[in-house]
Amino acid sequence: MGKKVTVVGAGFYGSTTAQRLAEYDIFDTVVLTDIIEGKPEGLALDINQSRPIEGFETKVVGQSTGPNGEGYEAIQGSDVVIITAGLPRKPGMSRMDLLGVNAKIVRQVAENVARYAPDAVVIVVSNPLDEMTALAQLATGFPKHRVMGQAGMLDTARFSHFVAETLAVPVGSVQTLTLGSHGDTMVPVPSRCTVSGKPLTELLPADKIDELVVRTRNGGAEVVALLKTGSAYYAPSAAAARMARAVAEDSGEVRPVCAWVDGEYGISGVYLGVEAEIGATGVKRVVETDLTDSERDGLKEAAEAVRAKQADVADL
Ligand SMILES: NC(=O)c1ccc[n+]([C@@H]2O[C@H](COP(=O)([O-])OP(=O)(O)OC[C@H]3O[C@@H](n4cnc5c(N)ncnc54)[C@H](O)[C@@H]3O)[C@@H](O)[C@H]2O)c1
Repeated sequence: MGKKVTVVGAGFYGSTTAQRLAEYDIFDTVVLTDIIEGKPEGLALDINQSRPIEGFETKVVGQSTGPNGEGYEAIQGSDVVIITAGLPRKPGMSRMDLLGVNAKIVRQVAENVARYAPDAVVIVVSNPLDEMTALAQLATGFPKHRVMGQAGMLDTARFSHFVAETLAVPVGSVQTLTLGSHGDTMVPVPSRCTVSGKPLTELLPADKIDELVVRTRNGGAEVVALLKTGSAYYAPSAAAARMARAVAEDSGEVRPVCAWVDGEYGISGVYLGVEAEIGATGVKRVVETDLTDSERDGLKEAAEAVRAKQADVADL
């Protein structure tokens, strides 16, 4: 049987993710849901009508859902569920300002995912990301490897874009890495950044690399400040869609994601941004990479910062 993926939340992030997934043309069905009646149905109809032009066969099914889980039958049999439901930031807001309101939404969504798609791999994108990923795992009761969050792929993509622009080189020649949390304790890893195989540290002075790191850390806020009415979605949706594709194709590719860490880097018991091998079962394994002492210290600090907040989500 062909693969099925569900995107919960048909806002900017969810609808662009559904479009990207459909255009891959590797799924039988992409289900798009939202609590606003008509929104997912209308967007699904619109994406389906692009099929003859873009040349893909995947069908998009729009389904609005009710407060008591009405409509969730549509997600039955999903191999992957991406949770994008929740409010985005407005200018001046931090991701943590969304905690209370998005926790209620993510808990309700996760409980329905557990009920109707009990075998799915869950990819969380709602903010604050590290906390919402931990909450989705608690509320679904799924094994920890079957719940992960999207952040590192986006942060890494932003970093790579800034490096490519600064050096005026093709973005395809740039490799960067960020670990840690999706927020203030993001840990860029300059020692693992290269351009056409050459270390970034030999191509740019340390203060310029620091500048790009700061811009990467504030990458989301920079877009929010320009848009004024919502947050980024083109690069974020590219990241979530690629993760879902890696699961559907059981590709085993190694990507920076928010995954449950259990002993790697001497850190245990927390969802944290690390590199992980992704496949049909979700996170197949966390991949430990060589870090400098200061990068390793930064990762440990990030783990402690998010650990405290993740412990609180059980009560939300
Ligand atoms: N992880 C990341 O890297 C990253 C990047 C960008 C945005 N985000 C986050 O993604 C989320 C979505 O962003 P957006 O730009 O699409 O916002 P949006 O406001 O455009 O869309 C959110 C959608 O969620 C729906 N929704 C609310 N409650 C729901 C429920 N219980 N069930 C189903 N749908 C529900 C809303 O009706 C709305 O259509 C935000 O929390 C944002 O902060 C994360």
